[in-house]
Amino acid sequence: MEFAGVYARYHTWMDIPEHTLPVTLLEGNTPLIPMPKLAESLGGGFSLWVKFEGMNPTGSFKDRGMTIAIGEAAGRGAKVVICASTGNTAASAAAYAARAGLRCVVLIPKGKVAAGKLAGAVAHGADVIQIEGSFDDALSVVVEISNRHPIALVNSLNPYRLEGQKTAAFEICEILGSAPDWLCLPVGNAGNITSYWMGFRQYHAAHSCGLPHILGVQAQGSAPLVLGHPVEQPETVATAIRIGKPARGEEALSAASESGGQIMAASDDEILAMQRLLAASGVWVEPASAAGLAGLKKQLDQGRMDVRGQRVVAVCTGHGMKDPDIIAKSMQPPALLPLDYKAIEKTILKGLQ
Ligand code: F0G
Repeated sequence: MEFAGVYARYHTWMDIPEHTLPVTLLEGNTPLIPMPKLAESLGGGFSLWVKFEGMNPTGSFKDRGMTIAIGEAAGRGAKVVICASTGNTAASAAAYAARAGLRCVVLIPKGKVAAGKLAGAVAHGADVIQIEGSFDDALSVVVEISNRHPIALVNSLNPYRLEGQKTAAFEICEILGSAPDWLCLPVGNAGNITSYWMGFRQYHAAHSCGLPHILGVQAQGSAPLVLGHPVEQPETVATAIRIGKPARGEEALSAASESGGQIMAASDDEILAMQRLLAASGVWVEPASAAGLAGLKKQLDQGRMDVRGQRVVAVCTGHGMKDPDIIAKSMQPPALLPLDYKAIEKTILKGLQ
């Protein structure tokens, strides 16, 4: 069967209004990549897959929810959509709004959005406003604006975003034949962990496919759900999850506890080390996307989790190409040689010895 995006494939599974229009860029149907080498380096004895959501049209999982949120807004006659964003939501909203012919306004925290994400929002014609504040500040402004004006909010407070995002759980169960034992993923504003838990429960109710334990991972400098209180000035190299007051924090905590999992924090160093390990297996993700696996590694190293004989899926939420600066900063710059055959040959052979 031809795959025509998450609305076409799954709309009968979604609690969405009749007026919702299919506005698609053929999002979803992302690869579930086996990672045997990485599983070995984490101690081995278990099966590991990466659900590579960076393969969506704008390079992140946001497209699954945005197709539905924008389709719903367009179907009820909205002309303008708005969101706050650490970058990926902005790029996705801009692309789907362009597709539907809607105006898109995005608010982003100044200086804290990766270049590839900002460029995406600009390329698709969004009105981008930087604010001198955090994502959390931006979110409270856009919520107020959408309450006062006929402007549709497309952050994950919008329930239709979750309806689209939960389809990733369906895809995982379809490919594996049942739910994995563990699902690891990064947590920022907590819409995605909420969506996965909705999706797994719904699929289990229909197909008795089991339920995973959910390991949600925040960055240490932005870990309100671990600390149990908001973080006023969140900081992390994983700018996508630099969020101190998650809008769906309560749901995230329920998903973790109901599933027999947990929410934990990983440090920036642990996140960047996992980003390099993933890249060494051929999967380049942005820093935030490595957080789920960084958390898994930490738990395994400290003997706090035992996954022997089990199946683990890690969600890698966004592509590394959107945040290339991080790699440029943390690696040696490439060698620069004159156009001299002998000098180039000598350098190459040195690397071979
Ligand atoms: N990973 C990436 C790459 C993200 O962009 C985000 C969130 C998350 C994980 C966390 O997902 O918020 O549902 O818990 N990015 C939002 C944005 C906040 O504006 O792009 P969450």
